[in-house]
Amino acid sequence: PTIRREDYRPPAFLVDSVELHLALHPGATRVTASLTMRRNPAAAPAADLELDGEALTLISSALDGAPLEPGRLARLPGGGLRIAGVPDAFTLRTEVEISPEANSELSGLYLSGGNYFTQCEAEGFRRITFFPDRPDVMARYTTTIEAERAACPVLLSNGNPDGAGELPDGRHWARWVDPHPKPSYLFAVVAGDLVAARDSFTTQSGRDVALAIYVRRGDEDACGHAMDSLKRSMKWDEDTYGLEYDLDVFNIAAVSDFNMGAMENKGLNVFNTKYILARPETATDTDYEGIETVVAHEYFHNWTGNRVTCRDWFQLSLKEGLTVFRDQHFSADQGSAAVKRLSDVRRLRAAQFPEDAGPMAHPVRPDSYVEINNFYTATVYQKGAEVVRMMRALIGEAAFRRGMDLYIQRHDNQAVTIEDFAQAMQDASGVDLSRFRRWYGQAGTPELRVRDAFDPASGRYTLTLSQSTPPTPGQPEKLPVPIPVRMGLIGADGAELPGAGVLLLEEAEQDFTFDGLASRPVPSLLRGFSAPVRLSGLSLEQLGFLAAHDSDPFVRWDSGQQYAVAEMLRMVQEFRAQKPLALPEGLASNISALLDGAADDPAFAAEALVLPSEDFVADQMDTADPEAVHAVRQFLRASLGTRFMARFAALHDELRDAGPYRTDGISTGRRALRNTALSYIGRAEGGDGIARAARQFETGGNMTDVLSALRVLADSDAPERETALAAFHARWRGDDLVLDKWFTIQAISSREDTLRVVEDLLQHRDFDLRNPNRVRALVGAFAAGNPARFHTASGEGYRFLADSVIALDAVNTQVAARMVGPLAQWKRQDAARGAIMREELRRILARPGLSKGTYEKVSKGLAA
Ligand code: ARG
Ligand code: ZN
Repeated sequence: PTIRREDYRPPAFLVDSVELHLALHPGATRVTASLTMRRNPAAAPAADLELDGEALTLISSALDGAPLEPGRLARLPGGGLRIAGVPDAFTLRTEVEISPEANSELSGLYLSGGNYFTQCEAEGFRRITFFPDRPDVMARYTTTIEAERAACPVLLSNGNPDGAGELPDGRHWARWVDPHPKPSYLFAVVAGDLVAARDSFTTQSGRDVALAIYVRRGDEDACGHAMDSLKRSMKWDEDTYGLEYDLDVFNIAAVSDFNMGAMENKGLNVFNTKYILARPETATDTDYEGIETVVAHEYFHNWTGNRVTCRDWFQLSLKEGLTVFRDQHFSADQGSAAVKRLSDVRRLRAAQFPEDAGPMAHPVRPDSYVEINNFYTATVYQKGAEVVRMMRALIGEAAFRRGMDLYIQRHDNQAVTIEDFAQAMQDASGVDLSRFRRWYGQAGTPELRVRDAFDPASGRYTLTLSQSTPPTPGQPEKLPVPIPVRMGLIGADGAELPGAGVLLLEEAEQDFTFDGLASRPVPSLLRGFSAPVRLSGLSLEQLGFLAAHDSDPFVRWDSGQQYAVAEMLRMVQEFRAQKPLALPEGLASNISALLDGAADDPAFAAEALVLPSEDFVADQMDTADPEAVHAVRQFLRASLGTRFMARFAALHDELRDAGPYRTDGISTGRRALRNTALSYIGRAEGGDGIARAARQFETGGNMTDVLSALRVLADSDAPERETALAAFHARWRGDDLVLDKWFTIQAISSREDTLRVVEDLLQHRDFDLRNPNRVRALVGAFAAGNPARFHTASGEGYRFLADSVIALDAVNTQVAARMVGPLAQWKRQDAARGAIMREELRRILARPGLSKGTYEKVSKGLAA
């Protein structure tokens, strides 16, 4: 059944308050809910009350205190409940039984390592109790939890604590009251044997907030970075938006079995341990960054998501796009904004551009879905954030801040739409955003083309910008969108000329003229990546010039990358024609120039020295050729490594860091540059890469260095490979998050036997299909992070992924559906590969009892 945005109807009944009582038992938890309900004056009248429910056993029910006769009750197809003939206002009490132990979906109430956790977004609350489980029903919750004291000393829910006490038989209880009305997807309960890392924060108006991060015993000392990130986020939201925290406590609980990264439940965020726990010896610099970002993201949801929430799930980007925008802005403010921007853009291009060009392409505000969990996508999150970013560029920072104030003032405690957000921005700025709203409704990545002309006689330079958006499933025709193009002009000597600013391309094609120029300038376009588009039309010479001279770090980096892509595409053609490959001198001199300036900005140099990924290069071809792209990229890594061996070795020596481990931008930049150098040496001919890596693996004082070294070894045929992998496993077998890295590093190895290794690892005693992190670390990393081996011409990689999806769908349908993606991109591959990929998709589709989420991904993948 497809759900359509245009079919939205307000809820027939509202819930004013909820009293929940949970009696926790692993196999049989009793949930009693008392809902104070009334008819919604704004909705079409309905005689019967319909409540969502899934996997619930109904024990008893009563309306205004009187038991409901069975004749008035009916179960709905998905497991919901219909109650015939209810009055205008009433109290409904239901008692249900659920089994946390049997819940491998990790949606609703489940067990992880003997502790209880919930995940309710998007539709998990209906797996806890009967309820109108939709975000536009906002209620005040009081939650009482009871459990065995020995097994569950800690009992947490949303809001503020409101009493606790003892019960017979070694049980105890605790009550939580959340004063803020909220939708059911923000409900949470955590109970178990957890310990807290504690701190406090005083808000700008003087409210003392007790902060706690609950983790398994032994992990208390790994919460420092998360706690510090939380306090900086709280302060930043006050300073930047005047938004202050609104409860007496802010709790975070970390769980190792979790479908996503984290969840913003009111006053009780639940996190994947991956985004909380960090020690220098176990977490990489990337992990530290991820923690800062995700902690900030979930905290920022308190206002953009919780206080102002979504009317329906088509509006998901209202909270997610805006909150990603906010967490990106926050992280940029913490260190190097330029390097942060590069990595955000790299991620957008790696995940969102292919999605926008593939069978699952959908607008930032989708029009329909079968399973909403399939729409927690790079488009809703990352492109949604880009749209907010463009809006701010169009109306200006001051107006954007007024717009945020107005949005929150108008809609506090409401469930609203993306349109409401755009309207607030329009009203606060006075800028007409009607055409801009197309960004929300139109799928596909716009292609921006540039042509230029210079008239030496008049000194006039003309930039002609044109745009078009390719068709996407269900949207054959596209309209032009307003594209803000931040730009500048560079003179032949490399100096910035007058004329920099923002060009707004609103039509399919427009000319922009610049007068008074002595000679033809080079245009620097999309500075800071001012719009999520694909830019083309610059020559190799112009790209090389910009990479060397532009003042904007993004354009400098991107021009270097585009230059490399152009050369790599040319080499791919040569490889296919069986011509010998040669290192292009232009590319070599770009790398040489980067090495010259590396010491000035190591973090930037590290980003710029890395060649464009195989996927990014293949993405620019009409038909991908994973083998050829892999061969070309490996050839370039080896020949650049060989050519600049002495300089890479010098960097690797000079940037050695005796410790202590620090995560500031300078230190992480130096480590990144040093390990980029090591990776080049590792591929160089006649280099001592293996010896260097082996030494670094043994003596490295932090996981960033150790893992970079292991990566070099795992890619090699050297005997050190097996020794190092075995030592790493022996050392870290007790630490799930580190063990995930051990699986991933083998899954992404460029070695030819990688698929065999991955299949063996699937049988490894430490592999567990029920743990999403482990599945992502092995199956996900192989299918999405190792194009050369996944796309092996025999089709074995495809068969492996299809088998994994089938096995997973019986355990955790959300994780299964997420794994389908790489198979659905069959159109990008040649006919032979495409045929096998489709065959595998059909094999999945033929499985009886396939979940609707996996069904939606596979059938859309096949249809495209
Ligand atoms: N709202 C969470 C976040 O982005 C994501 C939760 C998604 N959960 C899901 N089952 N789809 O912060
Ligand atoms: Zn979010």
